Amino acid sequence: MKTLIINGPNLNLLGKREQTIYGEKSFEDFYDTLIAEFPSIDFEYYQSNVEGELINKLHEVGFSYDAIIINAGAYTHTSIGIGDAIAGIETPAIEVHISNVYAREEYRHQSLMAKNCIGVITGMGLNSYRLAILHFLNLKK
Ligand code: DQA
Repeated sequence: MKTLIINGPNLNLLGKREQTIYGEKSFEDFYDTLIAEFPSIDFEYYQSNVEGELINKLHEVGFSYDAIIINAGAYTHTSIGIGDAIAGIETPAIEVHISNVYAREEYRHQSLMAKNCIGVITGMGLNSYRLAILHFLNLKK
């Protein structure tokens, strides 16, 4: 199962950034545990702070990969372009968030991509990504 994990702005700072909200682990360390835990999955990881680069990556993989797990960070709440990109590709996507966006500022309660995703997982810490993987694996059964 060819799977892209794609992270948006500021998620490169995980482990350093607002640790009380996002935890102390870097995404790279977490990613290593995922690779070890799910040997049957062919993972790719991509992170960018630039909206257009995230859209380009979705276009690049979105007609050949089996699964996309996307945490678009703040662009979740602002980017019609990323929402449209997910609508325009064929690969199914799950939107994930580390924090519970509904327990935070009101501007984080809106997602401009959720309706184009098969589902949303929010507030489970880095485990949100793991739960998305488990869901894709379940769909394959
Ligand atoms: C986030 C939540 C967003 O509101 C925020 O802008 C982020 C991270 C999360 O994973 O909890 O950068 O997507």
